[in-house]
Amino acid sequence: MNKNILIVGGAGFIGSHLIRLFVNKYPDYNIVNLDALTYAGNLENLRDIENAKNYTFVKTDILNTDLLGQAFDKYKISHVIHLAAETHVDRSIDDPLAFVKTNVVGTVNLLNTALQKWYNNLDQHLFYHISTDEVYGTLGEEGLFTEETAYAPNSPYAASKASSDHFVRAYKETYNLPVIVSNCSNNYGPNQFPEKLIPLFINNILDKKPLPVYGDGNYTRDWLYVLDHALAIDTVFHKGEVGETYNIGGFNEWKNLNLIHLLCKIMDKKLNQSKRESEKLITFIKDRPGHDRRYAIDANKIKTELGWTPTVTFEQGLTETVQWYLDNTEWLKNVTSGEYQSYYKDMYNNRTKGGLSKGQEKLPQEQTQSTTTQ
Ligand code: NAD
Ligand code: TYD
Repeated sequence: MNKNILIVGGAGFIGSHLIRLFVNKYPDYNIVNLDALTYAGNLENLRDIENAKNYTFVKTDILNTDLLGQAFDKYKISHVIHLAAETHVDRSIDDPLAFVKTNVVGTVNLLNTALQKWYNNLDQHLFYHISTDEVYGTLGEEGLFTEETAYAPNSPYAASKASSDHFVRAYKETYNLPVIVSNCSNNYGPNQFPEKLIPLFINNILDKKPLPVYGDGNYTRDWLYVLDHALAIDTVFHKGEVGETYNIGGFNEWKNLNLIHLLCKIMDKKLNQSKRESEKLITFIKDRPGHDRRYAIDANKIKTELGWTPTVTFEQGLTETVQWYLDNTEWLKNVTSGEYQSYYKDMYNNRTKGGLSKGQEKLPQEQTQSTTTQ
């Protein structure tokens, strides 16, 4: 069946992989990429498909409701896959309000637009919201996040995503909007902005800069190759049940330090360096405030009910990711010039070894604007 799908946030890391997958796999679908092109959005990610017949790009901020409505009308949008967000935990600690605006208000704007435009035949539509496992908070040594785990977000980023998930649910319960939510673990792969752990460390090894490990480095994340996430979204979009939530994960838990050692090993090999050359750059720095100790996803629901499983092993995915960054130094250079330099300085230059003591917690940036969004 022909579908006109609005992929929101399609110029970002996961969105660009999803767009490529859908444009190539479903020639009968019209794919509209709506993105504001913030620092994290990059049309370079989509050069190979930008001239495809079934692809259109629209530069729009989801805070602009008029332009959202126009895009729905112009492209007769029948389905939404919503990935647009502010996504970096460290930035959310500095500027929580930016996360409230895009992740909460922006999501409600999209829900309102979809509801208004689809009101007469709701059952022919779908609003699929992409979320994160961070909404569940942190785990101890044992246990996994399931779809039933209570929300307990700890960072402003996680709180804003949790809030957006709640609004999506409320629009189903209150207005009958057909929605699906999926909550995924940490992604890695090509085209990820070098503010997140893996690409930041690859970039620093290339530049022979310190590798900044937060706290004791014994934090655990569950890693999933980005293409496997795109395939999971494809599965949920086509086979998922309206009103359901699906957890997506890699069945692949790593302590940060173990991951970093593996990454250093792969980098040394690829760069023909002596063994342990990259490891010498490891530097322990002040911990992230409110740092969640462990994330781990139980992805058995999507596996048993919809038949999705990850296809790429971690070693394979990490090796391919490193190779991509080595082959795309121009991309890396472009995204690390300009604003990135001051971001890096602000974020890392004052974080010497040792944790923050009580009363020294980082404060949000000073509020200069009214909190009322127009
Ligand atoms: P990203 O930061 O790489 O990209 C976000 C995209 O959203 C960018 O293209 C940006 O330009 C766009 N955007 C931001 N604000 C916007 C606005 N106001 N209007 C329109 N577009 C805007 O993010 P990502 O890592 O690709 O994550 C995509 C989604 O997946 C997010 O919702 C995130 O919460 C979720 N997620 C990410 C991960 C991960 O590990 N990266 C894991 C689970 C879930
Ligand atoms: P990140 O990639 O920011 O993802 P998230 O916080 O959403 O899980 O961080 C992954 C882990 O790596 C997390 O425990 C924080 C840690 N980390 C560092 O130790 N140093 C860094 O410079 C960064 C960016 C992250």
